[in-house]
Amino acid sequence: MDKAAMMQTAREMVASFDELPTIPQVATRVIALLDRPNVELDQVADLILSDQVLAARVIKMVNSPLYRPSHPIQSVKRALIYLGIKHIRELAFSVSFVDVFEGRDGIIDMKSFWEHSFGVGIISKIIAEKVGYPDSEKAYLVGIVHDIGEVFLSYYQQDGFRQMLESVQGQPFRLVDKEREFLGTSHAEVGLCIAEKWNFPDEYREVIGLHHEPAEATLDPTLCAIINLSDLFASVCSLDYGGRSWVSFRLGDEEAWSILKIYAPHLAQFDVERFCYEMEDRVPEIQDMVKSIFQDQGAK
Ligand SMILES: [Fe+2]
Ligand SMILES: [Fe+2]
Repeated sequence: MDKAAMMQTAREMVASFDELPTIPQVATRVIALLDRPNVELDQVADLILSDQVLAARVIKMVNSPLYRPSHPIQSVKRALIYLGIKHIRELAFSVSFVDVFEGRDGIIDMKSFWEHSFGVGIISKIIAEKVGYPDSEKAYLVGIVHDIGEVFLSYYQQDGFRQMLESVQGQPFRLVDKEREFLGTSHAEVGLCIAEKWNFPDEYREVIGLHHEPAEATLDPTLCAIINLSDLFASVCSLDYGGRSWVSFRLGDEEAWSILKIYAPHLAQFDVERFCYEMEDRVPEIQDMVKSIFQDQGAK
């Protein structure tokens, strides 16, 4: 399908969405503050405390098994000391992002969606470290947001989305292909339009738009390939939101794998099966983290 036509359809769709949500102000301010050199921890703590929901989520998340503190952490400042500046950015971004989608349950189940998104974030970070990608935190954050288009597509195109899912019941399918066939565009193009509206950095936009076609990436194909593979691994580990009815893939057939092998030739020795087992072991931890973030929202 013609990419330009799909982008045009996505742009028209996004323009027709009423009240497109915005990223919480405090989160963007925290991220901007952390970009400054010599930032004081107190300044960051005060800013986080100015948003009580964000502050509560930071404390919940820092106490989740993912970060494993030896004693419960009860204040934002202690959470910041425990995590360090680099991880606060990661944490502030991921917890505040959840708010943007509150109350926008479309056809897809939001809890499964977030398990998939955080799962892809965490697996991306691990793969980034394995291949020697210089910014594993970026891989984590982009992993969390790679499918943002899906939330909007399934929320604003409920009838089309439902018909699409009914038509493929019981058959193997790739969600992105079916969306293009039924809706003339997909969550990748819709996500890209939203990322443009939200002024996401260029590499984020590229991953959101091309995570199913990493070979087309020009800005950072390695990052795109990392997210693409993590997406597949997450699905194999059942961290999926119902977009697929097949759960296996051949690594050698994946274009992302070819891209990463050029970037990191030592990957030829990669033990895929072992990696899948390792990731599967982390699934309960990811599910617990998502549960802890959503607890105060009454999510399932
Ligand atoms: Fe996707
Ligand atoms: Fe995905």
